[in-house]
Amino acid sequence: MNTLQDRVALVTGSSRGIGAAIATLFANEGARVVVHGRDTDAVETVRSQIEATGARVMSVIADLTRYDEIEGMRDRIEQVHGPVEILVANAGGSPSRPGPIEEISEEAWRASVDANLTATFLTIKCFLTGMKERGRGNVITMSSAAARRPNPGSPIAYAAAKAGIELLTKDVAAQAGPHGVRANCIAPETIMTETNQQQIPEQVQETLRGTHPIRRLGTPEDVAQTALFLASDNSAWISGIVVDVAGGSVLL
Ligand SMILES: NC(=O)c1ccc[n+]([C@@H]2O[C@H](COP(=O)([O-])OP(=O)(O)OC[C@H]3O[C@@H](n4cnc5c(N)ncnc54)[C@H](OP(=O)(O)O)[C@@H]3O)[C@@H](O)[C@H]2O)c1
Repeated sequence: MNTLQDRVALVTGSSRGIGAAIATLFANEGARVVVHGRDTDAVETVRSQIEATGARVMSVIADLTRYDEIEGMRDRIEQVHGPVEILVANAGGSPSRPGPIEEISEEAWRASVDANLTATFLTIKCFLTGMKERGRGNVITMSSAAARRPNPGSPIAYAAAKAGIELLTKDVAAQAGPHGVRANCIAPETIMTETNQQQIPEQVQETLRGTHPIRRLGTPEDVAQTALFLASDNSAWISGIVVDVAGGSVLL
């Protein structure tokens, strides 16, 4: 229960969904966790749930498309918990719908790239210098099965942004590895977060289950356990990889 004892871990986008599951598991494993989001009420709910377990936890609010807000967040974390050793750049999502390329507006394209690729880049940029100076750091990014193969069910702006995150992660691994920093990426298939439970009708869930060699849909805990492995010393010689948490579906 102490795989991450006293390590300072920031999980971006942990006000709900996958990020909240990662933050909760990391806290159970002894990490000093930082819960992050934009929705203050949601962030405080997760923070107080983790605090109730006796863990040391703090919360921060920042829009990750704004570098000045990320810097403010980093400075506040360093004042309270000390420097971030484990950065889970999980925040993101798909503001656009699947459809023909020529019907995607420039605004919608930019919104997907901003919310995923640019936000992940700005977050890593802000924390990497300190990690390299300290000779110690671990970056985990969040892609998607959407980025692993063309799929008419995936919005291409989102998929392309996530594919960019995968290459960015490999570049971080190559550049920062000699300075003691590892970087890996997780690519989940459909995960049954509370939001997806509500938004995906049961009949569609049943159809989706049938598309996975492992005949069930993923849970936030499936992703959190993968993040824990990558964050821990159990994966000490692994860097620059993308892990499909996808019930085998990317094999199809
Ligand atoms: N769920 C899936 O099926 C699935 C599958 C593949 C990949 N993923 C990826 O996994 C990650 C988490 O997914 P999820 O389903 O758990 O998402 P979610 O429930 O929609 O939560 C997204 C989180 O990201 C935060 N966020 C988004 N944009 C932000 C911004 N510009 N600045 C700061 N925070 C921002 C949100 O903060 P607030 O709500 O507090 O504003 C929230 O905490 C995402 O990167 C997503 O693309 C999810």
